[in-house]
Amino acid sequence: MASLRSTSRLLRGSSAFMRPVMASRSYATVETPAKPTEAPAATTSAPAPKMKTFKIYRWNPDEPTAKPRMQTYTIDLNKTGPMVLDALIRIKNEDDPTLTFRRSCREGICGSCAMNIDGVNTLACLCRTPTDTTKETRIYPLPHTYVVKDLVPDMTQFYKQYKSIQPYLQRDTPSPDGRENRQSPADRKKLDGLYECILCACCSTSCPSYWWNSEEYLGPALLLQSYRWLIDSRDERTEQRKAALDNSMSVYRCHTILNCSRTCPKGLNPGKAIAEIKKMMSFN
Ligand code: SF4
Ligand code: F3S
Ligand code: FES
Repeated sequence: MASLRSTSRLLRGSSAFMRPVMASRSYATVETPAKPTEAPAATTSAPAPKMKTFKIYRWNPDEPTAKPRMQTYTIDLNKTGPMVLDALIRIKNEDDPTLTFRRSCREGICGSCAMNIDGVNTLACLCRTPTDTTKETRIYPLPHTYVVKDLVPDMTQFYKQYKSIQPYLQRDTPSPDGRENRQSPADRKKLDGLYECILCACCSTSCPSYWWNSEEYLGPALLLQSYRWLIDSRDERTEQRKAALDNSMSVYRCHTILNCSRTCPKGLNPGKAIAEIKKMMSFN
């Protein structure tokens, strides 16, 4: 199993990654509104509990000799918000404060809650908790990543690779009026489907080519980002950017498996972006 295997390479001492945001608000809990005092006595009873079981990957770097394990939690979905992140926050707040995961925005913007839920890499805050209480939901960290703790993957290599593609505007020509570097609406439109990437790494960690070569292969997320800069009409480093990708471990390590496009929780298409880079390499 990918996640379990990858934990044999667990990192220690990555303290920067060991600071999960503590769930401090209770938005994971559905509060029953207070009844107005003058209202007639209610005759309806509370809905029957809807108990759902979660099995969650646990590993604690403070116990490095202990093997990773799956821990079972059961919570009442009637008292919990609808998303998997709501369930995790409820478990952390009310059952087990040691459960560790990342989250920040709670609305699919920051990318920090990426994890593997029932076999799919996705964002916990955008993933509805399956309401079938006869089946458990299994949650792992992103596959084939080093694990810092529980559901927290180490993103060091991913960000190092991101830095390597120089993800910023590069040009020598000053703008005509010394102000913004403008582009036409048509050129701006070319960035649609690319600029929305939140660097959650769901796509890269679903890609078999990335699993086996993550030290070298850029992976779909960073190739999509590379394409975003290649087609930005304002950028003047197109040829250098293409040359940097023209090797067996950059764009050509993609074998069009398309797990990346299937899993992207933002609905983006990294596989298509990679195909566009290959076209640029072939025909320009
Ligand atoms: Fe995440 Fe999608 Fe960007 Fe990949 S392309 S990093 S899955 S938002
Ligand atoms: Fe991997 Fe996506 Fe290519 S899954 S092989 S990057 S099309
Ligand atoms: Fe920000 Fe899920 S918490 S994307």
